[in-house]
Amino acid sequence: MLNHDLSFFYYIVLFAAYCFIGWVAEVMYRSAAQRKFVNAGLLFGPFIPIYGIGAFLVVVLEYALQGRPIALRLAAFGLVLTLLEYAAGYLSEKIFKLKLWDYSEYRFHLHGRVSLLFSLFWTVLAFGFVTMIHPEALRLSALLPAGPVQIAAIVFMVYFWIDYTFSVMSLAAFRKGVAYLYEEYFNLSSLEIEDILKSFQRLREAFPDLNRYVNQNINRRIRIKIGSFLKPVLEKFFQELDGRKPFEAEYYETVREILDHEEFRKLKDYFHHNSSIYRHVHDVAYLSYRISKFLKLDFRSTARGALLHDFFLYDWRHHDAPDLPREKFHGLEHPKIAAANAKKYFSLNDIEEDIIRKHMWPLTIVPPKYKESYVVSFADKYLSSREFISEYKKRIEKRRSKASE
Ligand SMILES: [Fe+2]
Ligand SMILES: [Fe+2]
Repeated sequence: MLNHDLSFFYYIVLFAAYCFIGWVAEVMYRSAAQRKFVNAGLLFGPFIPIYGIGAFLVVVLEYALQGRPIALRLAAFGLVLTLLEYAAGYLSEKIFKLKLWDYSEYRFHLHGRVSLLFSLFWTVLAFGFVTMIHPEALRLSALLPAGPVQIAAIVFMVYFWIDYTFSVMSLAAFRKGVAYLYEEYFNLSSLEIEDILKSFQRLREAFPDLNRYVNQNINRRIRIKIGSFLKPVLEKFFQELDGRKPFEAEYYETVREILDHEEFRKLKDYFHHNSSIYRHVHDVAYLSYRISKFLKLDFRSTARGALLHDFFLYDWRHHDAPDLPREKFHGLEHPKIAAANAKKYFSLNDIEEDIIRKHMWPLTIVPPKYKESYVVSFADKYLSSREFISEYKKRIEKRRSKASE
């Protein structure tokens, strides 16, 4: 397990090799999950230190427990690696104030920092490593000449220190960026927002659970801001809506181009909630138009954007569209598909496009830019839940009448 003839520098080179192997394993795992190349881990370079540390802990344990029953060794590996992962999670939360990984959605987890499933996985990995990989790596490294090994080890240590420093700075920049986004959200242009989110793309891909942090910090605060502005007005609006319909002609005038379009009329053939998409978008557009008018917003863009918000020509329950393969969620994808369709047949302004792209917020991470978009997103949810409830009531009625027959 250990070769006492080898100098400290050999172990540094082995450590680098294990950090690299860990990086390769993690890249394969993350890239498979996200279906594209993901540079995993905190460091910019191809090393993940926690794997190197774990590897050495396992080697030391195996050395100390020589000749002991295999069950005992496995238990020791599992326990020590779980402690290591827990400590790393705890420290990153304390030092960086970020949860880089979060197992809270797994069963049998502890504070989201460790979980039974992953601990079992680490144990199996450790056993394979200590019986197959490490003895071979030790044998091979002993063949290397001492001089170059010493140089390689020193270069690695210097590089490691620099990379680590920059990586920690990038975490701090990430937290600052998120804070900046929720403070200044409504004063920034869409381009600036996109740029900021893009600058964190690597971190967010390497640690997908960070999206939860972005979501909590940006979306929750914006929801509170919007809620305090929208709620009191909506109450007034619904009081005034009762029994009055004076704007019909103007509404139809605004949306005639879309309503009469051949491609758009196809929406009549597609199911949505308990009627067609056509019916649904029409209802959402009219309600949004009324609210926008009431709030003195751009009601034309609101009506047009709302009408196009679900412009997708497929039955989402069957995934029968080329843009929507099985593994993609309709909920996240259809705003993009609708926006592409809408742009193909109509010319959209910024507000209209924002309405379509963001109407599923907060499911999609980037919040809407315009008040009009919040109006449509609200109207969509409000009417969808009403459609859902009325459908539900109908079913209950059916069941009741069947039971009484
Ligand atoms: Fe939708
Ligand atoms: Fe909708």
